[in-house]
Amino acid sequence: MTDTQHAHWTRRWTFVLAATGSAVGLGNIWKFPYITGEYGGGAFVLVYLACIALVGVPVMIAEILIGRAGRTDPIHSMLRLSREVAGSPAWSIVGIAGVLAGAMILMFYSVVAGWALDYIWQSASGSYAGAPATDIEAAFGALTGDSNRQLLAHSLFILLTAGVVGAGVTRGIGSAVEILMPLLFVFLLVLLGYSWATGDFDAALNFMFAVDFSKLSAEAVLVALGHAFFTLSLGMGAIMAYGSYMPGDSSIGKTVITVAALDTIIALVAGMAIFPLVFANELAPGSGPGLMFVSLPIAFGNMPAGTVFGTLFFVLVSIAALSSSISLIEPGVAWLEKQGLRRSLGTAAIAIAGWVGGLLCIRSSAVFDALDHITANYMLPLGGLLIAVFVGWFMRHNRVQLEAGIGSYFLFELWYFALRFIAPAGVVLIFLHSLGILKF
Ligand code: PHE
Repeated sequence: MTDTQHAHWTRRWTFVLAATGSAVGLGNIWKFPYITGEYGGGAFVLVYLACIALVGVPVMIAEILIGRAGRTDPIHSMLRLSREVAGSPAWSIVGIAGVLAGAMILMFYSVVAGWALDYIWQSASGSYAGAPATDIEAAFGALTGDSNRQLLAHSLFILLTAGVVGAGVTRGIGSAVEILMPLLFVFLLVLLGYSWATGDFDAALNFMFAVDFSKLSAEAVLVALGHAFFTLSLGMGAIMAYGSYMPGDSSIGKTVITVAALDTIIALVAGMAIFPLVFANELAPGSGPGLMFVSLPIAFGNMPAGTVFGTLFFVLVSIAALSSSISLIEPGVAWLEKQGLRRSLGTAAIAIAGWVGGLLCIRSSAVFDALDHITANYMLPLGGLLIAVFVGWFMRHNRVQLEAGIGSYFLFELWYFALRFIAPAGVVLIFLHSLGILKF
């Protein structure tokens, strides 16, 4: 594909939906509640929110800006823009590491998405209707102990992902999120209502919002930063690749605020739906990756029409996961396409890599944890740091100002300051702190 043929989304709205589809996923509904549980609640949530506002939002604007100015895949966009300022071609490492990170995330992401697919079947067959909490907990253990069952679901999810990406950006991605994302949100609100009526809402509020810094470890701060990148799909070129399809006249700033706000609200609502049930059923908030797969089925199992609601809910979670996973492989696929490979072949190559990696994650939770840890806590923040430094310090001020399309001079300068100073300093300080080099 030549540059003049590089696809465009015709409406601003399509970009907002696709970016929201990428951002809102398992990170919000599965990962955010469970890491909040593991890292002690309130103080962790506060650091996470600060990371979203001070680091995530500025970097997201910069990442879209590179994509839209470069108008090609992340690796070539970085090359092209660095050439503009006579910079080193080594900047393309941002794109290369991103392609790698995308494949690595897909490896464990598709396993968890597979659990959600399996739970569609579980709900539909009524297997947790009226079941006691202990049985539901044991059922999750049975799933994660059964490699073949996980393999089936994981393979199905990879096939779905490859199917959408292979079909192309315009047709495949835009249409899927248009109706389903709002529906997911409505479902979370229904669950929130159920939790409010039957769960221990006060305990949950207290857990999520009462800030006690003595519970905050260095590791927790690093995880909060990493999750801010993960949940907004930043630092690996996904949002950059999508930015390259964005119409030239729409405002990046406004779009980013919309996407980040929706993403954050959905994570908080998911937490507030899950924790009241956790406390009311005496589950442990820090029980790990099974949190959502145990607490929500308990809710559905005891709700009127829970079988129908539960089934639909896991359908929606699977779709949210799908609209994220497609963006995990889009940078790599776009790059291979630019290298002259057919889109279908490029998609197959990356999907197969993700599938094989997923097998390892199913077999070994150590591999699962390592991939999650390395990508979210190191690769994404590092990618984000380089993006911030490149746009903030290497691209020309004029060019950045024109491309960002932030109308107000004050808001532009505010963003530019955050991008040049706050975001890089935040990432570096947190890295130094978690390495134990710096104490605060
Ligand atoms: N943001 C997605 C989620 O929260 C995960 C993701 C990370 C997608 C990085 C693309 C790139 O589930």
